[in-house]
Amino acid sequence: MKLWGGRFTKEENALVHNFNASISFDQKFYKQDIRGSIAHVTMLASSGILTDEEKDVIVAGLNGILNDIESGALEIDQTAEDIHSFVEQTLIERVGDTGKKLHTGRSRNDQVALDMKLYTRDEVTETDELLKTLLSEILKIMKENTTTYMPGFTHLQKAQPITLAHHFGAYFEMFKRDRERLADIYKRMNYCPLGSGALAGTTYPLDRELTASLLDFAGPTLNSMDSVSDRDYLIEFLSALSTIMMHLSRFSEEIIVWNTNEYRFVEIDDSYSTGSSIMPQKKNPDIAELVRGKTGRVYGALMSLLTTMKGLPLAYNKDMQEDKELTFDAIDTVKGCIGLFTGMIATMKFNNEVMESSAKNGFTNATDAADYLVNHGVPFRDAHGIVGQLVLFCIDKGIALDDMTLEEFKAISPVFEEDIYDAISLKTCVEKRLTIGAPGKEAMDKVIAINEAYLNA
Ligand code: ARG
Repeated sequence: MKLWGGRFTKEENALVHNFNASISFDQKFYKQDIRGSIAHVTMLASSGILTDEEKDVIVAGLNGILNDIESGALEIDQTAEDIHSFVEQTLIERVGDTGKKLHTGRSRNDQVALDMKLYTRDEVTETDELLKTLLSEILKIMKENTTTYMPGFTHLQKAQPITLAHHFGAYFEMFKRDRERLADIYKRMNYCPLGSGALAGTTYPLDRELTASLLDFAGPTLNSMDSVSDRDYLIEFLSALSTIMMHLSRFSEEIIVWNTNEYRFVEIDDSYSTGSSIMPQKKNPDIAELVRGKTGRVYGALMSLLTTMKGLPLAYNKDMQEDKELTFDAIDTVKGCIGLFTGMIATMKFNNEVMESSAKNGFTNATDAADYLVNHGVPFRDAHGIVGQLVLFCIDKGIALDDMTLEEFKAISPVFEEDIYDAISLKTCVEKRLTIGAPGKEAMDKVIAINEAYLNA
């Protein structure tokens, strides 16, 4: 049965019913729908619009429906139009005419705006908790690897030596910002649309402050037209989710590269790898690849909703029903990805010697050789040129800077002395970098302490 049959003389076409119905996906927020209805009737009674007896009958009925859905005793009718109709009709069947008063002073427009907000608000919190667990795992790896030397790259070419802690620390900052974005979104979205009616408020003396506080909102929204047609918070959330995926995807790409036979910096655990049906030797980084791949899907949700919203006149339009499936899919995708990614890095093995010898082999200490000359009075531009000649010499001989004899150094520049070897040793190159944010252990330890305090706050 429809909630709105009165004005109609013909039955709805079956295809129209299916095209219009949203029960298959909005049943996901039956809990939020019932919670919102309980707050609504509680407020109606407190405002004198319903009697306390009527409220008690309705609240008991709604709680019964909630329990029965959870226990499996009540199945959500898949032929209903939407979750709002299903709950209201079941209530009327169960408690009789009093149930018909539930929808007093309410429209499905403010009801769905509320349900979606309640659902999303919890998901913002859950996403944040998953990010926090990921950050703890990253920090643990950082603490264990403040002197695990590896090459840092630019253009995917070896550039300067860093540490594994420093590399992971970069992602720590990214996911930390992602959490800040979520906190911001939560704060901005946390206003209650219920009581806005279809678009123009209602003539009942609703106490919107009360409904808002019963549902743990900071307060009621301030414009009823905006309340029923605002989907900004979903766009912001999808944007934050897209950024999280972008970060996970970059990290995944690095792990895929590091896990290759050519790099061998890491080895993904068997439990997070998959095999090939034809090539017996293969162990593939499918989880990292799927995380990278699913990023497109989450971006797609963001683009989709932005496009859905761009031409909509105020206030509610049915187009907005399209906000749900893509948002649910994006949320489930991101939560799954964060969880799996965390498990993957927690079980990953780091080949410290391979990383260290890779750092030694790519002239990653060339900048430090130039800095040595500068410290001995050579202008930087000249020093750059001299070290360029050293590198050419080494490439020709197939050796590293460290392998050159002092005579060979001196033949290119007489400024070099015995202490050049210490100045360009891998350890010195990293440990001399001590400004905040740099990879030297002393600087890194300070950042780790700051981030540890942040996680414990
Ligand atoms: N299923 C609808 C949605 O998701 C609920 C609101 C229906 N409102 C209406 N005026 N038809 O948007």
